[in-house]
Amino acid sequence: MMKQAIFLQILLGILVCFTVLFANAEDPYRYYTWFVTYGTRAPLGVKQQVILINNQFPGPPIEAVTNDNIIVNVINQLDEPFLLTWHGVKQRKTSWQDGVLGTNCPIPPHSNWTYKFQLKDQIGTYMYYPSTSMHKAIGGYGALNIEQRSVISIPYPAPAGDFTLLVGDWYKAGDKALRKKLNSGLALPLPDGLLINGLHKASVFTGQKGKTYKFRITNVGISTSINFRIQGHKLVLIEVEGSHSLQEPYESLDIHPGQSVAVLVTLRGAIKDYYIVASTRFTKPILTTTGILRYQGSNTPASLPLPIAPTYHVHWSIKQARTFRLNLTANAARPNPQGSFHYGSIKIVRTIVLANVKAKINGKLRYTVNGISYVDPTTPLKLADWFNIPGVFTLNNIKDVPTSRPPALGVSVFGLTLHDFIEIVFQNTEPTIQSWHLDGTSFFVVGYGSGKWTTESKKRYNLADAISRHTVQVYPNSWTAVLVSLDNKGMWNLRSEIWPDRFLGKQTYLRVWNNEKSLYTETDIPPNALRCGKASH
Ligand SMILES: *[C@@H]1O[C@H](CO)[C@@H](O)[C@H](O)[C@H]1NC(C)=O
Ligand SMILES: *[C@@H]1O[C@H](CO)[C@@H](O)[C@H](O)[C@H]1NC(C)=O
Repeated sequence: MMKQAIFLQILLGILVCFTVLFANAEDPYRYYTWFVTYGTRAPLGVKQQVILINNQFPGPPIEAVTNDNIIVNVINQLDEPFLLTWHGVKQRKTSWQDGVLGTNCPIPPHSNWTYKFQLKDQIGTYMYYPSTSMHKAIGGYGALNIEQRSVISIPYPAPAGDFTLLVGDWYKAGDKALRKKLNSGLALPLPDGLLINGLHKASVFTGQKGKTYKFRITNVGISTSINFRIQGHKLVLIEVEGSHSLQEPYESLDIHPGQSVAVLVTLRGAIKDYYIVASTRFTKPILTTTGILRYQGSNTPASLPLPIAPTYHVHWSIKQARTFRLNLTANAARPNPQGSFHYGSIKIVRTIVLANVKAKINGKLRYTVNGISYVDPTTPLKLADWFNIPGVFTLNNIKDVPTSRPPALGVSVFGLTLHDFIEIVFQNTEPTIQSWHLDGTSFFVVGYGSGKWTTESKKRYNLADAISRHTVQVYPNSWTAVLVSLDNKGMWNLRSEIWPDRFLGKQTYLRVWNNEKSLYTETDIPPNALRCGKASH
């Protein structure tokens, strides 16, 4: 009996290895070698230091297909530890590749590390960017676009072309100056301008009259929400962060830090140039930048006035946000209808209400989530977990509801069970807009409301066709509620995409766990994993 049991176990082990290897082996590999260096550019007319990848700013795009395996050797030639994170890539069963300080040791200066991950069952518009320090403020970001496999249908005709627009705010002060300011306890001023693909008022996108093009628009900025519009053209929304949306036409779209949308634009106008406009939302003054949509053969420059932006008030934005909904009859990345997952009827096992509060700790500006202002330990949480290293973090030291405890620095980690279906309410106590992102999975955005969330607020949830995305805005002194199925084991960063806020503590981690040690639920630590802190030996 004993021998048989062991034999069966070995057989099972071999089978598991086989399926894991095989699942990867049948899908194509894409290899990249990326040199991360400083360089000089003048995006706002003043020469300054930026982060280049293979001498490019923004970094080179990754154009891939669902299920592709991505191998990126990142060679850090900066003078500081560095990591890239793959924003919106779910990293199924392998938070080892997530590239944040809770899961990875940073790549030391003049050293390299190779990421290996699969774009499993995802299609859509994503990005990558530096997760360390304030590096994102000076570049190092780029597009990550995932096309559907040829056997999967999409709910719109194939566009004649595909344009990627990385839009974001920009500071002339370098990352080190911004960091110094934040570390000294001061808030950052308004950014100096907005860029589209690293350029101010200089990006041109050319198409043919009568044809329809896909525009993928991502907010790569560090703090500012934007409104995006194209003179004389409607934007038909088709995708929100990997979900096929209802295909509604819009005059303009609000896109918050860390968010992506894709729209279809049909060139129905006269043959000339048209302004593409991005302007900041909820700021005084409003910053604006432009690009050009050029009809092939155009000899006529774009003419003023620029199309108008929505007003300062948030009401317009909330109303628009509620119209972003799932197309329940469309396929997802796999050939099953994305709406077949009836999230609205699943029992919620836990409700976590997260209040973000601006605080002073030791006399300095910090941001807290349920009383704790997160500080990265020198040992990544994931490594501490794997090697059972004590003294790095304590599970559930953060409460599920806002607390009146005095604000404190700390390492906050929620302990959650694999496959739990939970509700997270982001309660914004600040008079500024928030943008929250969860690594490792997407969530259904079921409600936005003003004031304080109560259980009564649940009555107005959208339990039928809420959009599923990975980054959501929370309006000033308001709440946003999301439902999430925790089907991805690992250590996942839940963070503010307002980068100065995150830098000053507005983040936490979700440890999604079960006690079964199996390659079916989580891969082993990669053999090349970097070691640091208490996990050095
Ligand atoms: C560093 O790069 C070299 C090739 O330049 C590669 O052989 C090696 O595996 C890389 N190291 C890591 C830890 O990825
Ligand atoms: C939803 O998807 C279906 C099926 O692919 C498509 O035919 C339809 O136009 C879409 N509807 C909307 C409103 O987006």
